[in-house]
Amino acid sequence: MGRLRFLTAGESHGQGLGVIVEGLPAGLELTADDIAVDLARRQRGYGRGARQTIERDRAEIVSGVRHGRTLGSPILLTIPNRDHEHWTRVMQVEPLGPSETAELAALVASGDKRATPVTRVRPGHADLAGALKYGFDDVRDVLERASARETTARVAAGAIARALLRACGIEVWSFTAEVGGVGIDPAHASRSREEADASPLRCPDPEAEARMIARIDEARSAGDTVGGVFEVVAHGLPVGLGSYVHWDRRLDGALAAAVMSINIVKGVELGLGFEQTRRFGSAVHDVIEGRDAGGRWIHRSNNAGGLTGGVTNGEPLVVRGAVKPISTLARPLPSADLLTGQPVEQAHYERSDISVVPAAGVIAEAMVALVLADAVLDKTGGDSLPEVLDNLARYRARIASAPDRRPDRPVPAGGEPEVGSGGDD
Ligand SMILES: Cc1cc2nc3c(=O)[nH]c(=O)nc-3n(C[C@H](O)[C@H](O)[C@H](O)COP(=O)(O)O)c2cc1C
Repeated sequence: MGRLRFLTAGESHGQGLGVIVEGLPAGLELTADDIAVDLARRQRGYGRGARQTIERDRAEIVSGVRHGRTLGSPILLTIPNRDHEHWTRVMQVEPLGPSETAELAALVASGDKRATPVTRVRPGHADLAGALKYGFDDVRDVLERASARETTARVAAGAIARALLRACGIEVWSFTAEVGGVGIDPAHASRSREEADASPLRCPDPEAEARMIARIDEARSAGDTVGGVFEVVAHGLPVGLGSYVHWDRRLDGALAAAVMSINIVKGVELGLGFEQTRRFGSAVHDVIEGRDAGGRWIHRSNNAGGLTGGVTNGEPLVVRGAVKPISTLARPLPSADLLTGQPVEQAHYERSDISVVPAAGVIAEAMVALVLADAVLDKTGGDSLPEVLDNLARYRARIASAPDRRPDRPVPAGGEPEVGSGGDD
């Protein structure tokens, strides 16, 4: 990311989370209520654990906004952890004095799980690799930051990016496409976006959703967990965000990295994704119909998911993410102890979700929105929202008509010349 940057801070049971978002133009309307909508969406979903009944996430805008509009300066958001009140001594920032050390030791002696150092590393978590890497003897030093609680701050930052995109006529949303091997049937995806968003799994197909819920219940009663797939869709993007000219300017790469960076995502597909490998090219590539009367370029299909050559092509952007089953099982897997190096029958158990596909979709919306907002600003420049919107409108108008031809180029006789002849490698 170049124009728009963000940096999060905070531990899962620390005092709270923080995020600085830098690079936004001045003059964008923004309130804490706008951000609260997405934070609440992240907390919902059938299969979430008890933590979500404790937290009522709300970000406070500390800087960068005055009288409801951005100033162009860095925006600092803070989000308190309500659960912190149960962890004050365990997560204390200041060094422990003798009496506090004794207090913690007494808690451990009484069997208090919060105070007891975590050494039975959990499979599927950053526990072992993180503790070895940073030299910790208590896995809590790892899991507090590796926890997906951090994604709350990303969603808050994403809500700001969404506000910018909305002003530019771009909408980003997501839905649950699969849970535990049960997929939606697009022919039965009868719910509107609002209805899907309000449903238990944020799913457009009610019949599939009922079977997904049954899979989650099945996992719950077996002390197990399930994963799934979410799909993020963005409408209203202009042609030409991102670039093919260098690897790190390709929007497909930036989107894949952003979505893959979400704790629990193990695969990213754009458009048809891996399915393309099973088809002939004629059944994959999107035929270009031409420019319509309004200047819009029409493709007959959108298998590419709105991106060709790492550049948006005017079709809706489609990004899918594979969510692995939650790692912490109510019936814990065998593991090993960090200190002794010996096997243990059961890994540490920390209160846990069973399935988080709908929430992962909301987090992916945020990551996609941040990447797209950055790409828009990269294209338009501009220090104020009116300047961004003017530049974008001028660009949209320019690409809606035929490109200017260079006078030194020969005019093709019967249409455009053939492009290349021997492949492009
Ligand atoms: C919204 C959300 C909630 C999560 N909740 C849990 C949880 O309750 N228990 C758990 O074991 N993992 C949970 N995870 C996943 C872990 O954070 C993640 O698997 C772990 O940090 C290891 O990272 P990795 O899966 O990317 O390798 C959650 C992930 C997300 C996105």
